[in-house]
Amino acid sequence: MNERDTLKINGKGHLEIGGADCVELAAQFGTPLYVYDEAYIRAMMRAYRDTIAEAYDGNGTVLYASKAFSCTAIYAIAKSERIGVDVVSGGELYTAMRAGFPPEKICMHGNNKLPREIAYALECGVGTIVVDAFSEADLLEREAEQRGMIQNVLIRINPGIEAHTHAYVQTATTDSKFGFSVSDGTAQKMSEYLLGKKHLRLKGYHCHIGSQIFEQQSFVLAAEKCLKFVAEIKQKTGFEAEVLNLGGGFGVWYTDEDKKIDLKIYLRAVIDAVKTQCEKYGLRRPHLMLEPGRSIVGEAGITLYTVGAIKEIPNVKKYIAIDGGMFENPRYSLYQSKYTAMFANRAAEPPCELVSVAGKCCESGDLIGTNINLPKAETGDILAFFTTGAYHYSMASNYNRNFIPPAVLVKDGKAEYIVKPQTYEDLVRNDVIPNYLK
Ligand code: LLP
Repeated sequence: MNERDTLKINGKGHLEIGGADCVELAAQFGTPLYVYDEAYIRAMMRAYRDTIAEAYDGNGTVLYASKAFSCTAIYAIAKSERIGVDVVSGGELYTAMRAGFPPEKICMHGNNKLPREIAYALECGVGTIVVDAFSEADLLEREAEQRGMIQNVLIRINPGIEAHTHAYVQTATTDSKFGFSVSDGTAQKMSEYLLGKKHLRLKGYHCHIGSQIFEQQSFVLAAEKCLKFVAEIKQKTGFEAEVLNLGGGFGVWYTDEDKKIDLKIYLRAVIDAVKTQCEKYGLRRPHLMLEPGRSIVGEAGITLYTVGAIKEIPNVKKYIAIDGGMFENPRYSLYQSKYTAMFANRAAEPPCELVSVAGKCCESGDLIGTNINLPKAETGDILAFFTTGAYHYSMASNYNRNFIPPAVLVKDGKAEYIVKPQTYEDLVRNDVIPNYLK
């Protein structure tokens, strides 16, 4: 799959996503608007599910990492595709449960799960909890004991791979708030600690080496290091992991600087590495889990904006301002992320100038892109930003009391809300004026 499978230019010269005319979508639903192509999301879920099933003899599970985009509809789609999900908070778990998602197919993460989140996860019957602290292990044991249950757990380990990606989203280097290092002995200590817990059943290990990764070798190396660790633990403690969760992180296309990954080739390489290492160390093949987020929803989504003010600073730069900004796409201000964009209402026109796209927040750093190549902008143009399906809606805020935009799902050319628009009333819903101020 690539962005061209979901995006087309139609006979009117308008951009289409999943068969829906973006100019019509903007007119019908307003802007800013997150738009998702359901067929693309399903195709990606199936690509993971089926490749793991074929290449690993059905002994694997794909878990959609719902932090990339969490709303009830996405869990409903994941459920109908018979895949699992990963959640990282009580809020994501609640959203999945509201969508009727089977709890046994949920894996819960978090480097600092709150007591109430742990209690809620146990009440829901979450399939797997990935333990990331000694204090968490104690809390989990107590809570599970109180409920007379045994909870399946994995340990988040840090195999010490440095994946080539933006520093802020690297999670497996030695200095990380995530996981236990395999090299300094803490991952082993944690294994022994959990093996001593009566109400926790250690099933295996989890690692996640970062996000937006393109080097196949990083994943292969992570698999190799994890299995070497599994073999060492088996030798030292007799415990042989039944589950290996290799996390997510597969890169997607944002601009032509990003290579197009052939997902199946990547997955097969990782799976081959797992098989080879198991043979090398004489291990049973563990149940393999993968947790892709961005690669499932990233390219499935675009954001539509309306161009407002246009400001040209002679010999410096041209700004075009849109009705969105850092409140609905904080990725540029956080990571200087790069994007490709197009005017949906004149999609066939060749680009002719590089502009900065500014948001409407009261903050100079509120840009959503620089050096965006576009035709000459006019107020009222409908601007489409590509590959905004992951970590956009899920990272949005009400900064400056702007609305978090609604999201629509396109199926067979027709769009429906999956997240409704906010109202001014929503913005003040939880506000309280103490009596003494009245
Ligand atoms: N599993 C774990 C434990 C993770 O921490 C993550 C992402 C994933 C899976 C999914 O990774 P993906 O396949 O989506 O790369 N806000 C950043 C991305 C942060 C990723 C955090 N963890 C961004 O906007 O680029």
